[in-house]
Amino acid sequence: MEMDKLVSLCKRRGFLFQSSEIYGGLNGFWDYGPLGVELKRNVKETWWRDMVTGHNDRLTLAGAPSAYEMSGLDCTIIMHPQVWKCSGHYDLFHDFMVDCRETKRRFRHDQVCGRWVQHGQQRIFVAAEEGEQQADAILRHALKFFQLRNKDADQLQWDGSVVSLTTLESFEQVLGPDAKTLGTLTAPREFNLMFKTFVGALSGEEGAAYLRPETAQGIFVNFKNVLDSTRMRIPFGIAQIGKSFRNEITPRNFTFRSREFEQMEIEFFCPPAHSPQWYQYWRDRRYRWYTELGLSKDRLRLRDHHVEELSHYSTGTADIEYAFPFLPEGSFGELEGIAHRGDFDLRSHMEGKLDPNTRPLAVEKDDHGQPRWRGSGKELSYRDELTNERYVPHVIEPSAGADRATLAFLCEAYCEDQAPDEQGAMQSRVVLKLHPRLAPIKAAVFPLVKKDGMPELADEIYGELKRSFVVFYDEKGAVGRRYRRQDEAGTPFCITVDGQSVQDRTVTVRDRDTLEQVRIKIDECSAFLRERVT
Ligand code: GAP
Repeated sequence: MEMDKLVSLCKRRGFLFQSSEIYGGLNGFWDYGPLGVELKRNVKETWWRDMVTGHNDRLTLAGAPSAYEMSGLDCTIIMHPQVWKCSGHYDLFHDFMVDCRETKRRFRHDQVCGRWVQHGQQRIFVAAEEGEQQADAILRHALKFFQLRNKDADQLQWDGSVVSLTTLESFEQVLGPDAKTLGTLTAPREFNLMFKTFVGALSGEEGAAYLRPETAQGIFVNFKNVLDSTRMRIPFGIAQIGKSFRNEITPRNFTFRSREFEQMEIEFFCPPAHSPQWYQYWRDRRYRWYTELGLSKDRLRLRDHHVEELSHYSTGTADIEYAFPFLPEGSFGELEGIAHRGDFDLRSHMEGKLDPNTRPLAVEKDDHGQPRWRGSGKELSYRDELTNERYVPHVIEPSAGADRATLAFLCEAYCEDQAPDEQGAMQSRVVLKLHPRLAPIKAAVFPLVKKDGMPELADEIYGELKRSFVVFYDEKGAVGRRYRRQDEAGTPFCITVDGQSVQDRTVTVRDRDTLEQVRIKIDECSAFLRERVT
């Protein structure tokens, strides 16, 4: 599937718009249109239902070490600034950027790649932004720099494969993306990704606060509140869905890397001794969630981090990755991370920010031997009533992005195939084969023609279904054209009222994917949909 086609469908049919588009848009910010808002709400509600409210805490689910409870939270976006100091985001949540003095463009250091090439006596590193077209961009850029025509490409002597800019120590011989001269890239500089703001009338550092870069910390700092206000016993999970903000240096790939996005996170608290089994459970459970909702196993993978990639307090982290069509062939992008976080977060909020480089973990000290960032001093350990044992729970964190999941479901669903028109001639159609639980509109109701009692009957069906489902009424144009519009919107069922309906109160229901039509009683429409779309 070509990404351009999906992007244009999303705009044309009202799934996604650029934020503030009439003013030229704002890079890294996206608005969900009338269909998009329904789709994204369904992604979030399906996640919440499957992970939280629909979870049966009386059963031990396959692969889980025991039964467990789940509950939710909805925390503020702006929190006490100390939260981010103890979590490590204040000191460590940064990317490195490089600027081009010539083009004035800014890049993430690790997102520029390139290749060494020699022509005559000159050997240079030709850089391009990482992405689908990178090999082409490098070749074109090298030809232009050495003033060669395409037919002279064999005069270029390439040395090694495409490598990241991070592998270079000096940028003197680097030809930056789109630059005309060498050595225009600055040395990498640190850039904190948190958006800063000011609370109240104070605009100085005393009033400084941050928009949260993850929803997780709201859960950690409320751990004791949840424990004290419920009768939950460990193991249990606390879930949260909400906006997060990151001042990404190079937002790109549609909504994949945005500056404002939504996360769906669970912090799962368990006894330290059982945490490896819980980690395994959540890793597999979360992978399954995506496949159950239609992502194909060919395009989805679970990638365990190598030991060198892990924070040393973590015994495991795995990413669920999807082969997004905007990535180079064979590349995958992160949909969700499942991390074993040990007791790092609860202890940091209790004792003061821990130094992730210590073993065993110890509070990070300043030049005076005092905690660099003081914790809350509140007791965040847990006493097991059955064993009387007290411990700081370990945490397994499945952390998903609602926007990335929505984008992956859209990419997977986009399909072009053939369907017969009213005369039976095959016509090509664009169809979004979204899982019925995710589809923005569950059914469309059509009177075949605008007369003979059909609109009245269609109205009756529409009114009844509307009480429980998102349904759409359409009586305009040829019925074939109405089907096509619903196919593009991903509507799984079209209910048509025809001449027979007026006689015997039956309707035809057309299936978006198989194109099969079945005739059912009008009174059965609700049950028919409930069985298939919830
Ligand atoms: N609490 C852990 C955490 O935030 P993360 O890997 O930084 O971990 C989790 O983020 C998920 O949030 C990612 O897997 C991705 O789905 C989503 N996400 C992160 N940054 C994003 C961005 N700039 N735009 C869209 N989604 C993003």
